[in-house]
Amino acid sequence: MTQPARVAVTGAAGQICYNLLYRIAAGEMYGPGQPVILQLLEVTPALGVLEAVKMELDDCAFPLLEGVVCTDDPSVAFKNADAALFVGAKPRGPGMERSDLLLDNGKIFAGLGKALNDNASKDCKVLVVGNPANTNAYILSRNTPDLNPRNITALTRLDHNRALSQVAAKTGSKVADIQRMIIWGNHSTTQVPDISHATVGGQPAPGAVADTAWTQQEFIPSVAKRGAAVIAARGSSSAASAGSGALDHMASWIQGTPDGDWVSMAVPSDGSYGIEKGLIYSFPCVCKGGDYEIVQGLEISDFIRGKMSDSENELKEEREAISALL
Ligand code: NAD
Ligand code: LMR
Repeated sequence: MTQPARVAVTGAAGQICYNLLYRIAAGEMYGPGQPVILQLLEVTPALGVLEAVKMELDDCAFPLLEGVVCTDDPSVAFKNADAALFVGAKPRGPGMERSDLLLDNGKIFAGLGKALNDNASKDCKVLVVGNPANTNAYILSRNTPDLNPRNITALTRLDHNRALSQVAAKTGSKVADIQRMIIWGNHSTTQVPDISHATVGGQPAPGAVADTAWTQQEFIPSVAKRGAAVIAARGSSSAASAGSGALDHMASWIQGTPDGDWVSMAVPSDGSYGIEKGLIYSFPCVCKGGDYEIVQGLEISDFIRGKMSDSENELKEEREAISALL
């Protein structure tokens, strides 16, 4: 009998989880044949709404869902967790930058880190979604000394998916025809969507797009500011697409990336491309056998390199701002 995988999710009564949890329970994260147990964490006042989330999970009768735990106790939520998705955090509103959430949300991650460290499986795969995601993941990594440090990651797959969709629209192609997109850096307006190595229908994307002004002046800023555009249109931050990006990040990590393609993941830098070691920085990654590797040896133009450094510097500034939490 296959043992169920234990998946802890924080902020489980919130907007993003109303999309995400049902897809994990349907088996999309671990793939067919692998049962899951959901271990859901919320703050005490939200436990009533969380109970409704559980009722609906029950009512879906997912064959692979072997249990749902609802709790406000982090040590219960993280017990023997094989994966932990940190969604619980304040979202930004109109006119705010994600970094405006740093001090309030940073405290959540410092607080939960110890419980994760003491209770989760040592190889727990961790994804931080709550903003500012890279720096929250950095805080978590500094509070989880017993876990595998490679496994503390943050979400830039939503940005990656946004970039795929915009290049598909520009070139009149299908998203499925585009490979090797890259998001470098921070999940913020300094992120660097990069089509230099991408292909469209097997042909180099820069040639297929054939519009450098669009790439530099429209594509990059519009992917980087897409979160704010959704907030302006919806009145609250992206939820379904964020849940979908989080699911994609975990599914790629666990089930692997297709041959010849890669995905963007914010992971602890190992010094690749000259990025300071330890910063949680988005790189192109290939996943296989439940692990990831940063794609090496890509040529970087001066234009992209300058932007990559700006995003690295922003992450250093964010780290400085939360130094009291480390
Ligand atoms: P939401 O307000 O709908 O839900 C957040 C939930 O977290 C709430 O139910 C709240 O009670 C819970 N929570 C707060 N503190 C908690 C704690 N200490 N432990 C457990 N639960 C806690 O927000 P949402 O729309 O689901 O967004 C959640 C976060 O994800 C926000 O920070 C948002 O900015 C971020 N986000 C990130 C990305 C990304 O691409 N990285 C995309 C979209 C949203
Ligand atoms: C997004 O990119 O949609 C999220 O990070 C939410 C936000 O604040 O932009």
